[in-house]
This record gives sequence, C-alpha cells and structure tokens, in this order.
Amino acid sequence: MDKVIDLGQLRSELQVEDDFKSPPSLLQEILAVTEDPRSGAKDVQAIVERDMSCAVKLLRLANSAYYGFSRQIKTVREAIVIIGLDGVKNVAMSLGVAEVFTKGTPAEKAFFNNLWIHSMATATAASLLSRKVPNVVPSLAYCAGLLHDFGKVILFHHFGVEYEEVINRAAETKSSLLALERKFLGVDHALVGYWIAETWDLPQVVTETLQMHHDSGPWDYARQHIPLVGIADVLAYESRVGNGGNFSARRYDDPFFNPLRFDEAQIKSVMNDLRKESSRFAAMLHLDP
Ligand SMILES: [Fe+2]
Ligand SMILES: [Fe+2]
Repeated sequence: MDKVIDLGQLRSELQVEDDFKSPPSLLQEILAVTEDPRSGAKDVQAIVERDMSCAVKLLRLANSAYYGFSRQIKTVREAIVIIGLDGVKNVAMSLGVAEVFTKGTPAEKAFFNNLWIHSMATATAASLLSRKVPNVVPSLAYCAGLLHDFGKVILFHHFGVEYEEVINRAAETKSSLLALERKFLGVDHALVGYWIAETWDLPQVVTETLQMHHDSGPWDYARQHIPLVGIADVLAYESRVGNGGNFSARRYDDPFFNPLRFDEAQIKSVMNDLRKESSRFAAMLHLDP
C-alpha cells in the first residue's frame, strides 16, 4: 500500500526551505519578459548584462567550439543577434536554475548531474518540437522541459537517504520512479514540483506541465504543452542523453502522444540534435563563474 503522509504539512515545510522559497531571479526576469508582449531583445539584453556571471558564461559559451562561429562574439547584443533571442533566453534560464543542481551530498550531486543533462535534453527537445505545435511558445516549452522533473531535486533535498533508496530501487527493478515515490514517500515529484512552481508564481504552461507530465490525457487544444514535454522527456530517455532515474519511460509512439502528429523523421532529427548537443548540456552545469 502507498505510504500516507500529511501533504498539507509537507507542502508548508517545502515552501520555507531556503532553496525553494523564491525562484532564481534570472529565471523570473526572463519569464516576465517572455510573458510581456511589449518586451523584446533590449530587455533580455539588459537582464543578462545586469547579471555579470550570466553575461560572462553566455559569452564563453557563444565563443566555444560548440557554436563554432568563426568570429569572436564580444557583447551580449551580438550574442542575441547570432544565437537568437530565444537561444539567449534559454541559456539565461538554464544558468538561473543550474545552481540548485550543483548542491548537496555526493549522492545528490551524482544524481543531479544526470538529471541536469536529462532536463536540458527535455527542454531542448520540447523547444525544437514546439515549432510544429501551434499555440505553444517555444521559450515557455523550454522552461517547462527544463523544470519538468524539478520535483526530484526537491524530494532529494528533503528526504535525503530515503529518496536515494527509492532511486536505487527504481534502477534495480527497472520500474517507474513516480510509482515508487508514491509508494515509499507518500508523494511524487510531479506534485511537489507543481507546489513549488505555484509558490514561485511561474506561468500556467510551466506549472501545469510540472503537475501533469506523467498523466495520460486526453489533452484539449489549450493544453498541448503537457504531451509536448511528455514526448520530449521520452526522447531524452531514448537518446540516452542524461538520466532522470525513471526506468519505465513511455515510448514516443504511445497513443497518448497521437494528437501531436509528429512523424518519424521529425522524431529522429530531434534525437540526433540531442546527441550532438549532449556535451554542451553537461558543460553548462560546470562553467566557472
Ligand atoms: Fe517526471
Ligand atoms: Fe523526465
């Protein structure tokens, strides 16, 4: 039988934990610009330039072998022109969230390292595929993908060794991490991720995705972001880029994803991109300040 706990009490405990009290400011600022139709490239440039560490890391990435540009990119403005506005927003949101993935015990860090790459891969796949889904804003799809398993970070920080045992059991028995979380902790990463997203007042697209990314629909037209991140999550697993600790992931041809109507060529092309970008995903977590 699933463990029964006081969810109201757990929720209030998590909401006052230092790491989860408020959203990373970079993430919050980029989302505010994304949601404001009057904002644009100048606002994103100002946000990145105000955060020295973000600006330095962005320029280092832009000039790295990964992007492979022939001339040196010297300013944030140039980076926006060359990498694109969405590209810079995505890097800034990722850098904003990265810090939380670098904290904790050695066991937490090892798990978070793989989870980070899995989250970056899911975010990238969601953003690439969102171009084929009307009604979904690519940078919000990216953010929802980036944070979709954030509940696992919260659970590990809170439950420690108890959560480590749940992760190990999922690996040993090749089973669903979500089901084991419910069984042994009385709560799952989708629910606690949703709680924190609500506390942080994140956009509805993000909070709904965190809450329902393991549900099986059906989804109406206004909620296509949920199966979109669901299939992006599956593609991250199938490409073997990172690891979110779940050993019974769905397949991309699951009927659940039918309404999105991606064809085999689109799926294969996204998986290729994820494999090509995997070293950049890993590098972004460990860029020196
Ligand atoms: Fe998940
Ligand atoms: Fe995942």
